[in-house]
Amino acid sequence: MKVAVLGAAGGIGQALALLLKTQLPAGSKLSLYDIAPVTPGVAVDLSHIPTDVEVKGFAGEDPTAALVDADVVLMSAGVARKPGMDRSDLFNINAGIVRNLMEKVAVTCPKALVGIITNPVNTTVAIAAEVLKNAGVYDKNRLFGITTLDVIRSETFIAELKGLNVADVKVNVIGGHSGVTILPLLSQVEGVTFTDEEVAAMTTRIQNAGTEVVEAKAGGGSATLSMGQAACRFGLSLVRGLQGEANIVECAYVDGGSEHAEFFAQPVLLGKNGVEKVLPYGEISVFEANARDAMLDTLKGDIKLGVEFVK
Ligand code: 2OP
Repeated sequence: MKVAVLGAAGGIGQALALLLKTQLPAGSKLSLYDIAPVTPGVAVDLSHIPTDVEVKGFAGEDPTAALVDADVVLMSAGVARKPGMDRSDLFNINAGIVRNLMEKVAVTCPKALVGIITNPVNTTVAIAAEVLKNAGVYDKNRLFGITTLDVIRSETFIAELKGLNVADVKVNVIGGHSGVTILPLLSQVEGVTFTDEEVAAMTTRIQNAGTEVVEAKAGGGSATLSMGQAACRFGLSLVRGLQGEANIVECAYVDGGSEHAEFFAQPVLLGKNGVEKVLPYGEISVFEANARDAMLDTLKGDIKLGVEFVK
């Protein structure tokens, strides 16, 4: 397996690359690209870690060399939020970065599974899809917005609140990856009950958790380490699916034929071609159904912005 990380010298990219270097299956290749000149050095640094994962680093304007033969591409390139900013404030800079990188992906590794981390994910995934469509290589089963950070935050916060072993907590998070579009399905968490007040407070905390980090870092950026962990979990799941492992299920923001929006995060079964099957997200509570319906205008607006940007 060859995994390419685009934006590999950034805060998320370096954390992600470190985790992949230590956790990818033996014999894998890890290809790091960033516009920053330090990137080959990041690769040399990682290469001293004794695992059977070959690391190469590429810097400059063109990511092509890093993308050749990639099975999985994880894209974190772009700028991060500062206090007072919403993820959508990143659109002006990150939209162009994602478009340019996806144009190279479309030419160099059109069959790769692509996971987008670059914010605003609700919009950048739509940009990526449009670029792939324009190049005639779009396969909706191979493009993912990575929403795993919302899932791991939900698992962590619920385990803390209820005094549970976090390894036992499983939560589906549906919708998108920004504010009200993040909807954890707390009613489905096994063995746990929440009061109405707890549901409201926990949902808000999960929706605002990215901002919690942005404010705590006080101008020093947004979540990088937890995002690196989340992207690593998702990237390893993509690899396990590609290698034929059964029952690999993750929530992700996909073009999965949802009745709600063109792109919608929900559980998907992963396999040798990316999305093997989009799974139903199951029974939800009245609170969750209302929150889902209330997010749709925002989510559809975010998607439209991406489509129009490329057009
Ligand atoms: C977050 O949720 C970085 O969007 C990312 O913190």
